[in-house]
Amino acid sequence: MTGREIRRRFLDFFAERGHERVSSSSLVPHGDSTLLFTNAGMVQFKGVFTGAETRPYTRAASSQKCVRAGGKHNDLENVGRTARHLTFFEMLGNFSFGDYFKHEAIDLAWELFTTRLALPADRLWATVFHSDDEAFELWRRHLPPERIARLGEKDNFWAMGDTGPCGPCSELHIDRGEAAAGPAHACAGVACECDRFLELWNLVFMQYERAPGGAMTPLPRPSIDTGAGLERLAMILQGKPSAFECDLLWPVIARVQKETGKRYGAHAEDDVSMRVIADHARATAFLVAEGVFPEKTGREYVLRRIMRRAIRHEVRLGIDRPLLGAFCDTVVDTMGEDFPELGERRRVIAEIARGEEERFRETLDRGLELIDEWRAKRDKTMPGEIVFKLYDTYGFPVDLVEVIGLEQGFAVDAAGFEREMDRQRARSDFAGSGEIRAQRIDIVVPGTTCAFVGYDRLEEEGKILWAAPTDGGVDFVADVTPFYAESGGQVGDTGVAEGDEFSLQVVDAQKSAEGFVVHRGKILSGRAPRVGDRVRLRVDAERRASIRRHHSGTHLLHLALRRVLGDHVMQKGSRVAPDRLRFDFSHFAPVKDDEARAIEDIVNARVADNAPTEVVETSFDHAKRLGALAFFGDKYGERVRVVRIGRESLELCGGTHVAASGEIGLLGVVAERGIAQGVRRVEALAGPALLAWAREHETAATRREEELLRQLKERDKEISALRRKVASGGTRDLASEVRDIGGIKVLAARIDEADPKALRDASDRVKEKLRSGVVVLAGVSDGRVSLVAMVTPDLAGSRFHAGKILGEVAGVLGGRGGGKSDMAQGGGGDPARIGEALERVYAIVGG
Ligand code: SER
Repeated sequence: MTGREIRRRFLDFFAERGHERVSSSSLVPHGDSTLLFTNAGMVQFKGVFTGAETRPYTRAASSQKCVRAGGKHNDLENVGRTARHLTFFEMLGNFSFGDYFKHEAIDLAWELFTTRLALPADRLWATVFHSDDEAFELWRRHLPPERIARLGEKDNFWAMGDTGPCGPCSELHIDRGEAAAGPAHACAGVACECDRFLELWNLVFMQYERAPGGAMTPLPRPSIDTGAGLERLAMILQGKPSAFECDLLWPVIARVQKETGKRYGAHAEDDVSMRVIADHARATAFLVAEGVFPEKTGREYVLRRIMRRAIRHEVRLGIDRPLLGAFCDTVVDTMGEDFPELGERRRVIAEIARGEEERFRETLDRGLELIDEWRAKRDKTMPGEIVFKLYDTYGFPVDLVEVIGLEQGFAVDAAGFEREMDRQRARSDFAGSGEIRAQRIDIVVPGTTCAFVGYDRLEEEGKILWAAPTDGGVDFVADVTPFYAESGGQVGDTGVAEGDEFSLQVVDAQKSAEGFVVHRGKILSGRAPRVGDRVRLRVDAERRASIRRHHSGTHLLHLALRRVLGDHVMQKGSRVAPDRLRFDFSHFAPVKDDEARAIEDIVNARVADNAPTEVVETSFDHAKRLGALAFFGDKYGERVRVVRIGRESLELCGGTHVAASGEIGLLGVVAERGIAQGVRRVEALAGPALLAWAREHETAATRREEELLRQLKERDKEISALRRKVASGGTRDLASEVRDIGGIKVLAARIDEADPKALRDASDRVKEKLRSGVVVLAGVSDGRVSLVAMVTPDLAGSRFHAGKILGEVAGVLGGRGGGKSDMAQGGGGDPARIGEALERVYAIVGG
């Protein structure tokens, strides 16, 4: 029976018994800051159990994607070492929300197992919470008492996390026989950690909600939450010794065998490595497909740990090139039909895996060297600083160091590492996992709701339900509001709120954890508003219009990015404000200029079409079938809002939009850069904001141009001044170079960086100093020679002729020139011959 067939039989069985088939929610439990990953089928129903949320059905069944790595239910360390632990798995479950309870849950489970799945009844065992006589008696109708075990809180009390719904539970196990316990292992019975007894199904009798601090209150309606691991069922029904050999995981191991030439089952440690790779490749593929990319913090860091563990096991097996992407590809081949998000993200998954592997492989050897160096000291415990250095500089997750320690026989100072981490956190201004936390505002107004009417109206009158003073103002909630609270990347509205005795400026609107719109007010006049006051709420319409343009522009931009760059483009985040929009998405190279132009062209063609916007509410599943793009960063309920702009743009979105695309006016991309491995960010402006930007740019460009021209002129002046300075000899004392030739003072000198004017100035000055004599100067500027010759009046004409001297000198150079008896100028010729030409001057005077 294939995994797929088991899944189908399970869901069919419950659908036939009045259960709604509900599709798996995402692995990232958005809007739930108490969990890192979805770790059970009940997570998406948490609010239904506590009574905070209602659904149109009271019975449901699902096959839920789960990851158990980090947090309360963490199986990471066990993966590969046992036959059954996985970080990623599917959990089959049936749920009753105040409908049936223990009796029916137990009977349904028994019936499904022994008939629809035909598991051997004589090998099944049940466990119950030690004091749960009722469950014991209910099982007695199916099982002999010696196969019903009473266990304690550790085994038979289930809680999702430290807080949330919980209750006693009852499990069905299968006895796989003594051999499954492994050699040299004595199985301690049904609760033993060995692989003999395998838990197949957990039935939780949801009765309590645990608050922070541990206090438990009864749930409004006792409910049922069950969970059966699909891979474990597949392993048993396919007669395999471990979950890794069932059809859902085996193809990855087969691929590892092919790539390494090693055979699964030949060597125990190699088997562990192959199992780790098979599991971790699945976790990687599914998480990346949901937009979780490996990073340094939060759930992104958990993914990095998973990936780097897999890579290290590749290295252990002798794989010397990046192959994690290839193994993930096999996961996509195996699971893609049932999880379309895998196929859609195939390229993203492969690229992210390859990038991470390349980076880690670069530092892996150096990190291992560091470990060897430290080991030479023969210490028993690796100090926190070394562990931190391995983490921070070489990218070694701490649990990887622990695993290496286990293999090589040293311990790790985990507390010391944590201290180093705290220091690092204090140094950086890191503020969390990057997800915007809903503000925890305890609004206790039972039975009230806060209606948002701002899709259609910008003004509304309501009643204040809650108010609390803040620094310089007041936060308040009304029973109805046109103010959009920041969410889905769109900023909160601003505007005014007026009552009979007060007037407030609303500077922001945020959503509370319970979904209320919290207006942040500053008092303009009057007293502070109180609960029960009437209030007129008015949104700043112009600002809202700008936000709308940018939000609809974001959808068109998303569409265009996918058209131009490819379907691997998936939204990683966005921010929509009145003055600009920002869109982060997966892509593996900078967006080139011509691509950016093509993207703008597509958007603006849609703008010019003036296509109408349509909004429909439908079920999440229906929206996905329509092909609506959904952002995994958002939390979606049962009913979702689908925004269609024109024929092509279709997105799940709760934001506010233009009525027709023409309102956007024009959209331009103004910036693009990389913000993380595989993630780019573009910024764009729409409508008047773009015009304002263009004008500002033009003014700035003009100003820059003027400034450059001014600087250029200044430089020119500086250059001439410098040349003159050089020509005048600067610090050079030309008079000291004068020679006496037969009683006549003669100076023949070369001056670099001097043009004709500078040369004349210089020779004037020397002539004055000499009173009587002959001066010839040769200047070189920009490779051109200029010459000047001067003869003082007492000698000019009678004994020496400046023009003739110059003529001769120029002749040597191959240039030209001439002049009067006291002053002559010329130039040109070969600068290399200046020395020779100047020597000629002394010869002429010497006769
Ligand atoms: N929530 C329970 C579990 O995860 C049953 O679904 O085991």
